[in-house]
Amino acid sequence: MKVGIDKLHFATSHLYVDMAELATARQAEPDKYLIGIGQSQMAVIPPSQDAVTLAANAAYPMLTAADIEAIDLLIVGTESGVDNSKASAIYVAHLLGLNRRVRAIEMKEACYAATAGVRLAQEHVQAHPDKKALVIGTDIARYGLKSAGEPTQGGGAVAMLISADPQVLALSDQSCLLSEDVMDFWRPLYHTEALVDGKYSSNIYIDYFQDVFKGYLEATETQPEALTALVFHLPYTKMGLKALRSVLPMVDEAQQATWLAHFEHARQLNRQVGNLYTGSLYLSLLSQLLTDPDLKAGDRLGLFSYGSGAEGEFYTGELQANYQQGLDLGLPQRLTKRQRVSVAEYERLFNGQLAWKAEDQDLDYQNDPHRFVLAGQRDEQRQYFDQQAEKQL
Ligand code: COA
Repeated sequence: MKVGIDKLHFATSHLYVDMAELATARQAEPDKYLIGIGQSQMAVIPPSQDAVTLAANAAYPMLTAADIEAIDLLIVGTESGVDNSKASAIYVAHLLGLNRRVRAIEMKEACYAATAGVRLAQEHVQAHPDKKALVIGTDIARYGLKSAGEPTQGGGAVAMLISADPQVLALSDQSCLLSEDVMDFWRPLYHTEALVDGKYSSNIYIDYFQDVFKGYLEATETQPEALTALVFHLPYTKMGLKALRSVLPMVDEAQQATWLAHFEHARQLNRQVGNLYTGSLYLSLLSQLLTDPDLKAGDRLGLFSYGSGAEGEFYTGELQANYQQGLDLGLPQRLTKRQRVSVAEYERLFNGQLAWKAEDQDLDYQNDPHRFVLAGQRDEQRQYFDQQAEKQL
């Protein structure tokens, strides 16, 4: 029985900052950000969006009443959680109106957690083929204003419906995993911004990729040429390119050119959004499937997931006949319709997020066009609002 991704949707903010403008403001050469980092635009997440609202905004447009009826597992992967105890998945299940008989949990392992969710959901559906699982990777990547990591920020959520006989991608049963205790990136409980040893983490990423990629090929007796394209976790798009280049000597020149050409499609949408931690690999998959004209049913894609700390996994998926039907087809156009903000406005919004204090707070969400917004905090409880239904949730 085939099990895999049946639907794949994405949500981010309606605001972005231009990376050439940000580079100039930081006294850097624009090409450092545009080419050296590989980012053209960066999503600016307003205070009225958090990991919960981004997740709900990603999932609700793709879910039918029948999907909602069949979903008995919701896994939210995030490292931007809103509570130390309560799972963001509980809020998301409420916003989406999921069945009360759903198992709703939050998972954490840096940028890897959504992949853990997909793999567990896959096993769940294999055991219960009439059920569906919803897996969402949702994050706001924050390194801090004027930090070295600043140009690798961004945010958004990717929602995936996992089912039997999936429309989009049938996932391999086998995968290759690696996890070890590495201090390349972390966020202590008292920090709102991540701590990172950037160069070290980039090297560990490549080491992990080589290890699990080769481990998968060996264990499954797969020739690298059997993989049409390789899709990567993209904290910034140059990172995936570096990892891809590191394995090019394994294949002949024609295959190298094929992989490099496919990779340009896989990074197209990530270039416009920036980092989204857990959802990053799956936005790249969506980018590949939406923008690459040289894919066909039966093609096998390799997926590399990496979470600092560190955990990596490589697995594959087989493209299904009507894969376009399960995709967020309006996404490229939505990204072009976003509103550009100045560096000063981006800094104001960056500093305006809900404060970590007990007092009641109101957030300005009037200009946020998304259905689900964070309206503020009352009695130390987050206040979510459904703008379409005009109702407090
Ligand atoms: N034109 C073209 N390229 C340029 C350039 C220019 N004018 N100026 C610099 N560059 C290139 C550099 O050569 C370098 O490329 P390389 O990495 O291929 O060698 C790249 O731009 C970045 O320059 P660098 O000086 O290394 O940048 P930095 O010290 O400011 O830091 C990161 C870059 C990525 C390390 C930093 O943004 C960071 O720490 N980000 C977070 C890392 C992360 O996401 N880790 C998690 C991994 S999952």
